[in-house]
Amino acid sequence: MSRTMGSPYMEWAKLHSHARFDLAGSGLPDVPLADLPVELGQLELTAPGQYGYKPLLERLAARLGISPDNVVTVPGASMANLLALDGLVEPGDEVLIEEPTYELIVSAAEHLGARIVRFPRRAETGFSLEPAAIERTLTPATRVIVITNLHNPSSALTDEATLREVQALARGVGARVLVDEVYLETLYDLRPWRTSLHLGPEFVVTNSLTKGFGFSGLRCGFVLAEPELARRLWRLNDLFGVNGAHPAERLSVVALDNLATFAVRARDLLAANRPLLHDFLERRPEFACVRPEFGTVVFPRLEGGGVDALCATLREHYETSVVPGRFFGRPDHLRIGIAAPTEQVAEGLARLGRALDERRIG
Ligand SMILES: Cc1ncc(COP(=O)(O)O)c(C=O)c1O
Repeated sequence: MSRTMGSPYMEWAKLHSHARFDLAGSGLPDVPLADLPVELGQLELTAPGQYGYKPLLERLAARLGISPDNVVTVPGASMANLLALDGLVEPGDEVLIEEPTYELIVSAAEHLGARIVRFPRRAETGFSLEPAAIERTLTPATRVIVITNLHNPSSALTDEATLREVQALARGVGARVLVDEVYLETLYDLRPWRTSLHLGPEFVVTNSLTKGFGFSGLRCGFVLAEPELARRLWRLNDLFGVNGAHPAERLSVVALDNLATFAVRARDLLAANRPLLHDFLERRPEFACVRPEFGTVVFPRLEGGGVDALCATLREHYETSVVPGRFFGRPDHLRIGIAAPTEQVAEGLARLGRALDERRIG
């Protein structure tokens, strides 16, 4: 079998997802540079070549209540997932990945030559993580169990009690649990949370400042792991670009020093947008789903099918985009994002409603 050399989802996202009313995105709106309280004197082009920029490692660690020795910084959570998997998996190793999930995780594992086994998250339970489904697929050969928390595409939250059950399963076969926590950041102060790294050395975490805060452009991604694995990942990262772009590292420090302000802004935007989504779902019986309490996306099933046709109509005639469920292996579902500016979300949902009406008449 030839190696996977790209991501069908990312290609679509870059070439075909853009629209005036963008409900395809899953991150908070991009923060403009002008909103960062930074002066030119705070920036520098080059750092002394070391394993990580210390002020950035310290801030990330302090924020998450862990040690800087646990942190490996990389360009975005995308690279964090690839690096973490590469550090954990040899070609042919068995990797258990939730289904549905974020497509790039599967493509990254395929690219690395992993033997991928999927375990289901069921629509009927709101895609909640069921340890029994992992138990059924786990074998002594399993090296890594991969999940997203919050779940992409459904925003289902996995609590610590459930994570501990997964930990016990992993421990039983000597596997690690890789948790992509980019959407956990969207809990803000609405519900107490901590990174699953706190639960034990089985956990390896990936995250970034992209989704919860709108700092996609900083590419401030990171892997969290027990120190020995973190050291191994730093060495492996020497093969992937050696160092971060230092101006971005400096700007990430400024972003982290002011993160509380951006978190309030983000939390308030989602608080304004969520009722619009709930109201919309209330009025659209063709969409079946459990409504998420947190997060930036929802993943309903479209009764009667025709998701791809709906998405095409929506984009061609209504300047609106959502993500077709086929990118998550569920062609009868679609992902709707609610993190865009409120006027865009309101108008995008109205247009989605009109496209659904047209489909009913047509
Ligand atoms: C689960 C998940 N992980 C990682 C990423 C990528 O994040 P980043 O922009 O930090 O690379 C995404 C983006 O959609 C995502 O959904």
